[in-house]
Amino acid sequence: MKTVDILLFTLCISLSNVKLASGRNIEWWASDKSNSQKTDRNLCVEDYSPCNCNDSPSYGLEITCDGVDVLTIQDIFSRTTTNDLFSFQLTVPSPAEGNVVSIPADLLNGKRAGNILLNCPFPDWQLTIDADAFRPSSDLTFFFFTAGCDLNLLDFTSFLDGFLSLTTVFISQSSNVQGIQNLPALPSLNQLIVTYTTGLEKITDFSRLGNVQLRRLLLNGNQLDDQMADNILNAMASSSAATALEMLWLASNQLTRVPAQLSSFSRLIQLDLSNNSFPVLSSGSFSFNAPVDYLYLESNTINSIEPSAFQGDFTRGRIYLRFNSLSRFEEAVFRPLLEQMISVTNGGLVNLESNPLDCGDCHLAWLIRDSPSLLNAVESAVCSDGTAFSALNPSAFADCP
Ligand SMILES: *[C@@H]1O[C@H](CO)[C@@H](O)[C@H](O)[C@H]1NC(C)=O
Repeated sequence: MKTVDILLFTLCISLSNVKLASGRNIEWWASDKSNSQKTDRNLCVEDYSPCNCNDSPSYGLEITCDGVDVLTIQDIFSRTTTNDLFSFQLTVPSPAEGNVVSIPADLLNGKRAGNILLNCPFPDWQLTIDADAFRPSSDLTFFFFTAGCDLNLLDFTSFLDGFLSLTTVFISQSSNVQGIQNLPALPSLNQLIVTYTTGLEKITDFSRLGNVQLRRLLLNGNQLDDQMADNILNAMASSSAATALEMLWLASNQLTRVPAQLSSFSRLIQLDLSNNSFPVLSSGSFSFNAPVDYLYLESNTINSIEPSAFQGDFTRGRIYLRFNSLSRFEEAVFRPLLEQMISVTNGGLVNLESNPLDCGDCHLAWLIRDSPSLLNAVESAVCSDGTAFSALNPSAFADCP
């Protein structure tokens, strides 16, 4: 779980804005490093100043350089002896001229880093990375992260070429990310994260990305519209990603419909489409081929759900419909789901927090009067008059058909 750990570690320390931006969604990687972070701090034997060094017993050396110029960094690594670092994190120094920040060949003077993280403090700084900047790390690095830079000049093809162990490419709060369409073949890449970043709309050919065995594709906050999402997902769905993708996040984009390609992914079990805008969930919108883990649909202005909108195994699936505009909780939509969910212990749930549910007519008789045990799988359901579903009196529905 090293990737997971370094993500949390990094984001906590220097990129808390990223963490906040992702909010709840960060939880999957917020596993166990938070403890170790407090207890894992140790001085390093060698001097890495003006960079900071932490010697983590569990992970190794974590080097953080804040605004340190590249010649100084090369000098640090020529006088120190530890060959393999757990992480190397650089907040880039001021550009030598114009706005272009250049990472030179062999920045680490032959040393290697498992995690490489490069941040720009100002968004108009353009990052370039020499093809051989991190060449010695090519068989060790498993995680590459960059945030805050203009990536217009970055040649992804060359500096990541031959990175055989790289599992994660994570780009956040950056601009002009279109160069990722030229990612080299990365045999271990299974996680691509591009969040709160512009430039995806400039990509004309997603086929290279599609040919990666991605298990996780996280694209929150990129202003993707329906067409752009289609371009990406069509490439994925017609490639090897179709049988690999397990987690897809498209939250906080500009989708006005549920992507039609979802059912093409045979292993998809974790889907976040929250904070888009699709008022109607039509029949067959969600058709999962593997047992669903979660489906986030909150804050989508949803006011209507057609029967069979949700298809698949929801036994342990959690469906979050909170912060929508649902006035009805229809039997035809939800009974089949709730029956699956209550059939096992620790089964799934439907969360309905903050919907203007109308409990004054007969449409809830199926639930409150006829099948109250199904309420065990309904979370935070409150009528528009403030009454919780669980407090509704079944006898109030006695005269309903
Ligand atoms: C929802 O998405 C918009 C961009 O489409 C973003 O500005 C806003 O912060 C998001 N809201 C939440 C709660 O994530």
